[in-house]
Amino acid sequence: MGIRLSNLIERWFPKHEPELRVGMLGLDNAGKTTILYQLKIERNVEPLPTVGFNVENVRCGKMLLNIWDVSGDRPRTRTLWQHYNQNTRAIIFVIDATDVRRLTRAMDELRWLCCRPELTGAVYLLFANKQDLPGALSAEQLVTLLQLRRLAQPWAIQECCAINGVGLADGLQQLEEMLGSARGRRISGTFSNKLF
Ligand code: GTP
Ligand code: MG
Repeated sequence: MGIRLSNLIERWFPKHEPELRVGMLGLDNAGKTTILYQLKIERNVEPLPTVGFNVENVRCGKMLLNIWDVSGDRPRTRTLWQHYNQNTRAIIFVIDATDVRRLTRAMDELRWLCCRPELTGAVYLLFANKQDLPGALSAEQLVTLLQLRRLAQPWAIQECCAINGVGLADGLQQLEEMLGSARGRRISGTFSNKLF
């Protein structure tokens, strides 16, 4: 009886919140790994291009995110990642906002993700990264250029600078709100106010 009661208490008041799996994707050089470690250790780590994955747990409000930073080196990693993306609740999609030349490729990548049957129900946070650099496109410009309003899934876009961390906490806050709302109702896309 005592054991059963303690099981119930553990279920009602868990000591640890369950981890939510999050995939962080985008083209190579977008700044995914820089964002991951800025979120994890609040430092700029000057990463080398990722081979495979980096996986870290990051606290986001009351949630514990299990973030999979997937190398932008396609198509090898894309094929591999499909074996790990079950139960992924959110996608953080990182865009190098200065890489105008490869914007179409970034859009193709995003569309590919949105069509994955195993990601049905996931929410999408887009980071418009490298806002410290001249010529960076704003979140508002990217909404139009990436045709984000056509996305069927809940989404939000946030301008950021991964090397100093500006905008990252705001992005995670939007992610938390989307994950909270996604259970109950569809929410439409939002984009941040200009930060820079
Ligand atoms: P892959 O692992 O190859 O998929 O790339 P990635 O998306 O993980 O990019 P990574 O974090 O390795 O960053 C690529 C380069 O961009 C590095 O030299 C970073 O220092 C630089 N970088 C990342 N974020 C920013 C930023 O906000 N501003 C500037 N100026 N440079 C950045
Ligand atoms: Mg990387």
